[in-house]
Amino acid sequence: MTQANKPDIKYLFEPRSVAIIGASHSKGKIGYKMVENIVYGGYKGKIYPINPKGGEMLGLRAYTGLDEVEGDIDMACIVVPAKYTFDAVRECARKNVKYLVVITSGFSEIGNRDEENQIVEFAKENGMRVLGPNIFGIYSAGGKINATFGPKDIMEGGVSIITQSGALGIAMIGKTKAENIGLSSIISLGNKADVDEADLLEYLVNEERTKVIMMYIEGIKEGERLICKLKEITRKKPVVVIKSGRSKRGAMAAASHTGSLAGADEVFSSIMTQCGVLRAESIEEALNWCKFFTEIPAPKGENCVIITNGGGIGVMCADACEKYGVELYDDIKTMKDAFADAVPPFGSLKNPVDLTGGAAIEDYERCIRAALNHKNIDSIICLGCEAAVFDVDKLPDMTESIFKDKRNLKPIVFSFVGGSRLEEKIGEMRRRGIPVFPELYSGVSCLGAAYRQFRYSKAQVEPDAVVDIDADTINEVIRGARADDRTFLLAHESSRVMEAAGIIMPQSRVARNLDEAVKYAESIGYPVVMKVVSKDIIHKSDAGGVALDLDNKEEIIDAYQAIMRNCKAYKADALIEGVEIAEMVNIKAGVETIIGARIDGSFGPTVMFGLGGIYVEVMKDVTFRSFPLTHREAVKMVSEIKSYALLLGVRGEKKKDINEVVNTILKVGAILQKCSDISDIEVNPLIVYEEGKGAKALDARILLTKSKVVE
Ligand code: COA
Repeated sequence: MTQANKPDIKYLFEPRSVAIIGASHSKGKIGYKMVENIVYGGYKGKIYPINPKGGEMLGLRAYTGLDEVEGDIDMACIVVPAKYTFDAVRECARKNVKYLVVITSGFSEIGNRDEENQIVEFAKENGMRVLGPNIFGIYSAGGKINATFGPKDIMEGGVSIITQSGALGIAMIGKTKAENIGLSSIISLGNKADVDEADLLEYLVNEERTKVIMMYIEGIKEGERLICKLKEITRKKPVVVIKSGRSKRGAMAAASHTGSLAGADEVFSSIMTQCGVLRAESIEEALNWCKFFTEIPAPKGENCVIITNGGGIGVMCADACEKYGVELYDDIKTMKDAFADAVPPFGSLKNPVDLTGGAAIEDYERCIRAALNHKNIDSIICLGCEAAVFDVDKLPDMTESIFKDKRNLKPIVFSFVGGSRLEEKIGEMRRRGIPVFPELYSGVSCLGAAYRQFRYSKAQVEPDAVVDIDADTINEVIRGARADDRTFLLAHESSRVMEAAGIIMPQSRVARNLDEAVKYAESIGYPVVMKVVSKDIIHKSDAGGVALDLDNKEEIIDAYQAIMRNCKAYKADALIEGVEIAEMVNIKAGVETIIGARIDGSFGPTVMFGLGGIYVEVMKDVTFRSFPLTHREAVKMVSEIKSYALLLGVRGEKKKDINEVVNTILKVGAILQKCSDISDIEVNPLIVYEEGKGAKALDARILLTKSKVVE
C-alpha cells in the first residue's frame, strides 16, 4: 500500500457507512451487541448488518452478504470466527472497504501469526487497513459511532483512550463514567497488526474534542514513527501513558498477551520523557491526570502557593511538591503583600501559608482569593484539617464559588483531612466537579503533571543536534572488518572509529626500537605505559611485557630492556614487533562514565549514558534517548542520572566537563546514525575531567550488524 492509496484515518473515526459482518440475531452474541451499540449510540451514517440468514435486526435490514449492499462502505466490523475471517476480508476487498475493524480473536495472540500476516498483507494490497484483530472495537464521538461490544452508554467528553488491552479498555469505559470523565474516543488496538498508536495520533492531534490522550501500551512495534508523532502532539495536548511490563515477569506476561515485543522499561520511560509524554504509575493516577487536564486551567507560570490550617500537612505537601516538580514560591515581599490581611498575626506568611487551627472557612476564602488575584502567583494548593472552627458544611459552597468563578484562570487543588462528616462533604464536592482530593499526594501529582506539560509545550522547538564526523573513514574500517568476515571491530579499529568521530582516546604509538620508544614517549608526554607488541605473546603481563607509570627517559630505557629480556625468557622464539607507548591515564583524576548507542528492537537508534566503570552493572544508573536528539535533551539526559552530583563535583571537587560528555553522546549517536553497518557501540569508561579539560575514552567496543550494509 502506498501513501497515496492509504485510506484517510478520518474514515476510521468518522465512517459514513458501516457493515457488521457476523451481525447476529441472538441477543447474547457479540455480533448482536455491535449492531445494538451502533444503533443505540445514534450513528447517523448507513448501517449494514451482514448475516447469512438475512432478515431484520433492530429495525434494520440484514444483508446476506456484502455483495448485496448497494452503497459504498467505509468501515466493516468483522465478528465472525477466526476461520471465516479471511473470507470476510476478501469480501470487503471486492467492495473497496476502507477500514476493517477485526473483533475476532484467535490470531498472533495464540501463535497464529501467519494467518494474521496474510490478512494484513492482503488488506494492504487492496487499499484497506486493519484495526486489530482481537479488539473490542472503536468508539468515536466525532463520528457519533459506538462500534464496540462494550457498554452502550459512553459519556461524551475530552479524553481519548487508546488501549492495547481490550478488557482493560472496556473496564475503563465504566471507570471513566463512574469518575465523571467524558470520552471523545476509545480505540482498542489488540494485536496491532496494522493500525497502531501513531496512525491514531495522526487523527487525534487536530481533533478538537480531544483535550487529552491516554494510552495503555504493552509493547511498541514501530517506535521511530511513534516518537515523531508524539513529539508533535505533546506540544499541543497532553499524552498520558500507562505501560505494563515494568518488571521482568510483567514484561513476559505482556509479550505473551498481545504477541508483541515488550521493550526494556528504562528505555521506554526515558524515550517517553524525551517526547513530552507523561507516564503514570497506575490507572488511577492516569485517570486523575486526564480529569485534571480536561477540567482545570493550565498553569501560566511556575509560582505555586500552599494555603493550609495545619503545619504538618503543609510540610507533607511541600515534600509532595518536590517529588512531583511543583515549585513553591518564596518571594517574601509578594507573600506579605498578598496575604498580610488574610493571615492572623500568629500564622505564617511564608510558603506554606499557615492560617493556623483557628482559621474559619471565611479566612480560607479571603486567602485563596488574595492568591488568585495576585499577578505573581500562578497556582494554589489549598489544604485543610478538620478543626474546631472549621465549618465543614460551608466547604462545598466556598470551594464551588471559587472553582467555578469564571475570572479564575489559575489551577487550584483542594485536599482536606478529617472525619466522616468531612468525607461526606468531599463526596459532595467531587459530585459538583470540584478538584478535591482525599489524598494530597494525588492532587499534587495532578498539578505536577500539569506543570510538566506546561514546560514541555512552552519550551522552544530546537532542531536535532548535528555533529560532524568522518563517516568515510569509519566505513573504510568497517569494510576491512567485513573483508575479514568479522561482526566486531578489533581494538585498533575501534580506536580509528573514535578518532574519526573526534572522540579522544589515550595517545599511543608502536615503537620498533629503543630510540623510537624514547622519541614517542617524549612526544606523548610523561607518564607513559609500555607494552610489548607481539602476536606470539597474548598475556603481556604474565610475560613481564608491561611497564606502567614511566616518568622519564631513564625509566623508558630500563623498562624497554627489561621487557625485551622478560619476553625472550618467557618465549625464546617470540617474534617481537616492538613496544606500544601509550599515555598513562590517571583514572582517579576524573569520573568514570559510560556512553552507548544501539539499534533498539522497539525504538531504533538509541543512545545511553550512565555512571561507568565497575559500577555500571550494580548501580544501573543509566538513562536513554532516541537518536537523533536535541542538544537540550542531551544535556537533560546527563543531568538525569542519580549520580549526577559526581559530575557537578562533591566535597570541594571541581565541576566536571559536562559539555564534553554531551558532545561525546552526540558523536557516538552520530556514528550509529551515519554508519548503518554498526549495531552497538559501548564507550566504557569515558573518563570525564574537570570543566574545560575534556574527557577520554579508555575503551570502545563496536559490533556490526549481522547482515552487510556497506558496499
Ligand atoms: N458472514 C456473515 N455472517 C456470518 C458469517 C459470514 N461469513 N459466518 C457466520 N456468520 C454469522 C453467524 O451466522 C452468526 O449469526 P447468528 O448468531 O445469527 O447465527 C454470527 O455471524 C456469529 O457467528 P458465530 O459462529 O455464532 O460466532 P460467535 O458469535 O460465537 O463468535 C466471535 C464470533 C468473533 C465473537 C468469536 O469468534 C471471537 O473471536 N470472540 C472473541 C472476541 C474478543 O474477545 N475480542 C477481543 C476483545 S478485547
